[in-house]
Amino acid sequence: AATLAGCTRPVDGPGTGELLAGELRPERFQAKLPIPPVARPVKVTADTDHYLVTQRVAQAELIPGIKTEIWGYDGVFPGPTFRARKGRWTVVTVRNELPVPTSTHLHGGVTPAESDGFPTDLILPAGYSPAPPGHHSATGRHHDTTRDYTYPITQRAATLWYHDHRMDFTGPQVWRGLAGLFLITDEIESALPLPRDDRDLPLMICDRSFAADGSLKYPQRDMTHPGADGMFHAGIFGDVILVNGAPWPRTEAAAVRYRLRLVNGSNARRYRLSLSAGTITQIGSDAGLLAAPLPREDVLLAPGERVDVIADFTGLPAGTEVTMANTLGEGPTADVMRFVITGPAPDDTRIPVTLTTLETLDRTRAVAERRFDFRFGGGRWTINDQPYDPAATMCSVREGTVELWRFTSDFHHPVHVHMGHFQVLSRGAGGPEPGDAGWKDTVDVRPYETVQVLVDFTGHRGRYMLHCHNLEHEDMAMMANFDIV
Ligand code: C2O
Ligand code: CU
Repeated sequence: AATLAGCTRPVDGPGTGELLAGELRPERFQAKLPIPPVARPVKVTADTDHYLVTQRVAQAELIPGIKTEIWGYDGVFPGPTFRARKGRWTVVTVRNELPVPTSTHLHGGVTPAESDGFPTDLILPAGYSPAPPGHHSATGRHHDTTRDYTYPITQRAATLWYHDHRMDFTGPQVWRGLAGLFLITDEIESALPLPRDDRDLPLMICDRSFAADGSLKYPQRDMTHPGADGMFHAGIFGDVILVNGAPWPRTEAAAVRYRLRLVNGSNARRYRLSLSAGTITQIGSDAGLLAAPLPREDVLLAPGERVDVIADFTGLPAGTEVTMANTLGEGPTADVMRFVITGPAPDDTRIPVTLTTLETLDRTRAVAERRFDFRFGGGRWTINDQPYDPAATMCSVREGTVELWRFTSDFHHPVHVHMGHFQVLSRGAGGPEPGDAGWKDTVDVRPYETVQVLVDFTGHRGRYMLHCHNLEHEDMAMMANFDIV
């Protein structure tokens, strides 16, 4: 019988995966922290911002002085940051100039189904294999080399991200660079005295491994079948930690408060992040602001999750080096980035005691209960023993209702639900943990653990999915469709 490669399951470990050793080990804290460019609309109307993004192969300098071929939205990694405002529509036309099909998902978006980046709603490669006339996907949708994604932004201010979602190939395509940030603001958030502009830092954290020639390494083996060694893949951990695409970067920071939007864009790696000086206060989670700030010693970030924090460097002397550490990492992966304090500066921000009003869902609101068991079996990562079938649906839920979903697992599985946001009701035998606070779209389910969530399906109707956000598990069939009717 085949066994799983590299699988240990410490509850507070780096997750399910195996280290892919690279040949390049850049110096830590030398690269400058990049801030991804902000996307510029090509057309602005009374209610809509239109963008055009081209996915293409590009040479990027991720490691200083070294060229790495990436697949990037507009040829950059991370891709351009979109800034949207609740109440306005965003339409993004994505053109695919890569050699492979793609599908773009706005993670955390309350998005109409036809714009959700369904894994078989492919954008075909321009110039490689033109779509035969009238070609349709398994879901009956048309294929082309460009696609308009329409996002009616009806949801609260939140830190979202977008990434590739092509069936069976999300892991390798995200690894090569197909990911970026999508920030939504609203009136409530913009009225708060929080740090903004260059003191509001999006930090997309992900691990990668590099070959000696600077190229990104990824296993060549077919992830859906056992490799030559008879092993199935558990998930891929890189040995270089990137923040906004730079290895273990450094940035100068005044001795003031900063907002850090922490995004885990890794394929499989979990992080527990802390600062060596200063304090961190959580103000938001996946789907927006918490009701009240939450002082934290450290924050856990499973793949796909976001945590919005205020880092307070007030009072730190000039020259202080504040290291962001990852206590779930070992050796170099135990470090993430460094802030170098430049000295005091004016700061009129504060962390209000109330951030927003949030309805706390009560269990009695649930009109149905369902169980989803995330498990390795029959050579696949499965949900309720089923490998993913894009044409099948696991259940139907009613738009506008709340359901109780119970996730159980054998290994670490970061469970992500499209369209519906949820609140964590319980974890194991206890209530939610501090890291479970607020509205979420991804929840870290640990080995042999049961997590219950209340999902609000208010938004859109159509076919959506839930899946494990360990991208190698996702590619090895740990996904399921559900219909919102
Ligand atoms: Cu971030 Cu369905 O994924
Ligand atoms: Cu998983």
